[in-house]
Amino acid sequence: MSSEKIALGADHAGFRLKEQLRDYLNNKGYSVEDLGTHSDESADYPDFAAQVSRQVVEGKAQFGVLVCGSGLGMAMAANKIPGIRAATCTDTVAASLSRAHNNANVLALGGRLLDDPTARSILDVWLS
Ligand code: RB5
Repeated sequence: MSSEKIALGADHAGFRLKEQLRDYLNNKGYSVEDLGTHSDESADYPDFAAQVSRQVVEGKAQFGVLVCGSGLGMAMAANKIPGIRAATCTDTVAASLSRAHNNANVLALGGRLLDDPTARSILDVWLS
């Protein structure tokens, strides 16, 4: 159980994984704000990167999690926002290092690259 609030966002390529991760985090007791997208219709990833990042820099969420096809565009867009340190993580080692060495406050994941168990493992390590 955790009281940490996590802001979630995705484009169409990350939508399905984002839905999975939202349910996973809710089941673990996190407070989650799902900022969309809410379907697999084409959506521009920078819009969701900006919305999630705003929640983090304004202190409304402790962390942000962004999902696009690769996790790359989301991190690039989020990192344009002062105060955001977004890391694309493709494995649990990167997840751990991005927190321990880089103090990342946004995790970016690739919905087209990661299977669900791998994504959940990365998220677990990143949050711990
Ligand atoms: C969308 O097709 C895809 O380009 C986007 O989700 C992301 O992977 C960009 O980095």
